[in-house]
Amino acid sequence: MRTPLLAGNWKMHKTPSEARVWFAEFLEANPALQGGRAAVEVALLPSFPLLPVAAEQLAGSGVAWGAQDVSAHGFGAYTGEVAAEQLADLGCRYVVVGHSERRAYWNESDALVAAKARRAMEAGLVPILCVGERLEEREAGRAVAFTLEQLAGSLEGVELTTGEELVIAYEPVWAIGTGKTASADDAQAMAAAIRGFLARRYGEAVAARTRILYGGSMKPANTAEILAGPDVDGGLVGGASLEVASFSAMVEAAG
Ligand code: 13P
Repeated sequence: MRTPLLAGNWKMHKTPSEARVWFAEFLEANPALQGGRAAVEVALLPSFPLLPVAAEQLAGSGVAWGAQDVSAHGFGAYTGEVAAEQLADLGCRYVVVGHSERRAYWNESDALVAAKARRAMEAGLVPILCVGERLEEREAGRAVAFTLEQLAGSLEGVELTTGEELVIAYEPVWAIGTGKTASADDAQAMAAAIRGFLARRYGEAVAARTRILYGGSMKPANTAEILAGPDVDGGLVGGASLEVASFSAMVEAAG
């Protein structure tokens, strides 16, 4: 019912030239992704200047692409911002909103994240909305309460009718780029709590169709175990998505 999604968040890595080589090698290494025959959907989320390269090389390949952020504004005098329509015109299917790095380093609030999600959806993009607790909340036994509160704020004014308009990524901050992962049980427990919240807020049908990803030091060796949780519908992968070999191994493990 929910096709697993494995999304590679490249963060601020690679030049357009490097991306060109990477995409070609990745497509060659993963022929099963072509024609939509794979059991897993794959998306690549490079930084903005790499998106035209993705559009050129991934079009028709069965691999989706998207951006790592989007403006909360429509077109206008907003120097340095990128509008949702600009991403949609480049063929993006997805856009990350509310990544913990943006929340931490650019002070993005739940309200701003919600505004970005709404804008993305207006332009026909699927937001990948990130939530997750820091170590202090987990150690205080508040991981679920904190994450659901953050989710509620980040979904303010966001209407869902099918559940396919939005993806949620649970990324515990203490697991990002640290080599520490949540246990498969903890990832499943949080995904189930998130699905319960969605059911209360949007109804069972929407909750049943919304994909919930795990992110935080996923790698080939832990992919199958983490994705085995019935409520964990894929992964948002940082470091391990930068190499063709490791990301391909994760695609294999997820399929
Ligand atoms: P790592 O996989 O490098 O821990 O990053 C996770 C992440 O932040 C994906 O958005």
